[in-house]
Amino acid sequence: MELFVYFCRNKKLVIMQQKLVVFTGAGISAESGIPTFRDKNGMWGKYDAMKLASVEGFEEDPQAVLDFYNARRKNLLEVEPNHAHFVLAELEKQYDVTIITQNVDNLHERAGSSKVIHLHGELFKVTSSRNRLDSDCIKEYPLDVPICLGDKAADGSQLRPYIVWFGEYVDNMDLAEHLVKMADIFVVIGTSLVVYPAAGLVNYAHREIPKYLIDPNDMKRGLPFGFEHIKAKAAEGVDELVRRMEELEK
Ligand code: OAD
Repeated sequence: MELFVYFCRNKKLVIMQQKLVVFTGAGISAESGIPTFRDKNGMWGKYDAMKLASVEGFEEDPQAVLDFYNARRKNLLEVEPNHAHFVLAELEKQYDVTIITQNVDNLHERAGSSKVIHLHGELFKVTSSRNRLDSDCIKEYPLDVPICLGDKAADGSQLRPYIVWFGEYVDNMDLAEHLVKMADIFVVIGTSLVVYPAAGLVNYAHREIPKYLIDPNDMKRGLPFGFEHIKAKAAEGVDELVRRMEELEK
């Protein structure tokens, strides 16, 4: 727990902020208009993930992959954070909140969340196609400028979006596991929990802390052990979450 010490009329007040860790997936951005991957009308129902989200796919048809991500990058300019993103940002007034997200959008940041950890990359960044993790090549890139064949990264290789494709090293996993282990409250929102290693984070939370999962649907692989299911869309579910967390305080 983090301690905040204030002095009020010469009295020392110590306020303990609980660590609230929130693990999000595509479902939290669905009500902003960004499609999920595996629901009806989901992205991977329409497109072949192995062609558009793998190194092999990029080598085979880089133009198709760039077209796919350029469209998603452009779409990000047209969407706004929704109530769920804003409520999580607002919770920073009461809790020490960390968001761990599989999403490549920037809606948590735009809603005002200050600690956001991306596991699967970020649409607003680009990198080298020779070495995705080369820090000299990772940079922010305007969303309204398409990434074109022939655009070069700092190492001279073709520029590519900073996205973790299938089979690639997932960013920040050690940090994410550590944060989940240290959580006082753990919340999962809008993820099917089928993509590993990220999905395995649910197993790192301490068994005795409160754990909530917000998702309007039954979980394909069953509710993880010890979680309360708030069966609602994210925007409605976060209000119920806040109610339940207020109950914990009483
Ligand atoms: P999925 O599409 O697999 O799962 C979305 C989840 O959101 C499902 O459990 C839905 O029931 C739920 N959902 C749908 N609408 C919702 C709403 N309005 N509010 C709350 N929940 C809702 O998406 P992810 O689990 O995020 O990786 O997918 C994981 C990874 O697979 C993604 O990060 C992406 C994809 O391949 C990469 O692109 C690297």
